[in-house]
Amino acid sequence: MSPIIQMYNPTTKMLIKSKDCYQYDSDGKEYIDFESGVWCANIGHSNDRLIELIGEQIKKSIHHGYKFRNQFSEDLSERLNTLTGITNGASVFISSGSEAVNLSVSLSFHYTGRKKILKINNSYLSAFGFGQNSPNNDSIVNVQFNDIDSINTIDFKEISAFVLETGGASIDMVQFPEKNFISKIVDMATKNDCLIIADEVTTGIGRTGKWFGFQHYDIKPDIVVTGKGLGNGYPVSAVTANSKVTDYFNKNPFRYAQSHQNDPLGCAIGLEVLNIIEEEKLIDKCIETGEYFNLKLIQLAEKYPEKIKEIRARGLILALELKKDIDGDFIHTHLFGHGFVTGFKSNTFRFLPPFTIKQSDIDKLVTKLDDLLISSKSKKIF
Ligand SMILES: Cc1ncc(COP(=O)(O)O)c(C=O)c1O
Repeated sequence: MSPIIQMYNPTTKMLIKSKDCYQYDSDGKEYIDFESGVWCANIGHSNDRLIELIGEQIKKSIHHGYKFRNQFSEDLSERLNTLTGITNGASVFISSGSEAVNLSVSLSFHYTGRKKILKINNSYLSAFGFGQNSPNNDSIVNVQFNDIDSINTIDFKEISAFVLETGGASIDMVQFPEKNFISKIVDMATKNDCLIIADEVTTGIGRTGKWFGFQHYDIKPDIVVTGKGLGNGYPVSAVTANSKVTDYFNKNPFRYAQSHQNDPLGCAIGLEVLNIIEEEKLIDKCIETGEYFNLKLIQLAEKYPEKIKEIRARGLILALELKKDIDGDFIHTHLFGHGFVTGFKSNTFRFLPPFTIKQSDIDKLVTKLDDLLISSKSKKIF
């Protein structure tokens, strides 16, 4: 029996090493990671520059208490202002995406005095608190994905913030909301003094071919939440707010303490991740490779119109949805057996590989998918 409490997709595979786009189990078998861990390792697992930086920083300071500030957190905050287009903003750094989303929602409650948030029905939010499994879910108002009419049913006067995910990979396996749908919600929310929170935990740090997913839309969020890719696998997340919000909290302090708030190691890692992406032009690579991957999947969909329902893609977030009657579990199990780590749920494959993924590795995956699609049958037969 495993000494680990099994909570999510138990596995028997023991991981020994991860490097760039590859993972290795205890039998020495290599896997190509099309999930970047849990969509974190945007620049590849165990990046050499990060290894060096971590080795150096660990010798100096990993963590400090509330009596000190550190330069890494302040520099990273300035960088996030620049990249998000938030002028004179400020950030706070904590550990996970869930914590950062919950903190941003709490800030919006205090700022507006209102106690509900608006989200699109298929948004994830977080693992606890205001998210998925929360007892507080009566504070959540849902608008139906891409349903413009459903916006008219919302009482925006009771909403503190619209929390926007522009390409949720969790619940509905990669769906990108339409521009006019988002514009209308943001317009209504802004007219009613709600804050706009961009949850960029998955779509941020270059993943969609822009620094942030909201930059595909014509909006200016008040708060941007980042996580996952910011630490490339190391747990660091950020809440970055504009001066409207930070001025308010400077006058009306909001006390919030977490042991790892603004830790120097996490912030040094975040800064170096941004440097690497910029200096190595990895967002251009993400766009180019995403287009290649998308084309290959579209060609597959054209070959199997009776088996593939839809391809969805933006940068290096891609999904291949099978028709309902095709046995996707069979394909998924065999893909993993042949060394391809992919996401799979609701008969849909999800691919968020590191930006460093090679076209030849995409070709290998698509060839294997092609083989498995030829032999795939309807669910009733298996
Ligand atoms: C859009 C979004 N927000 C927040 C989170 C929560 O992040 P974490 O799992 O790091 O707590 C996730 C996780 O998948 C996410 O996809």
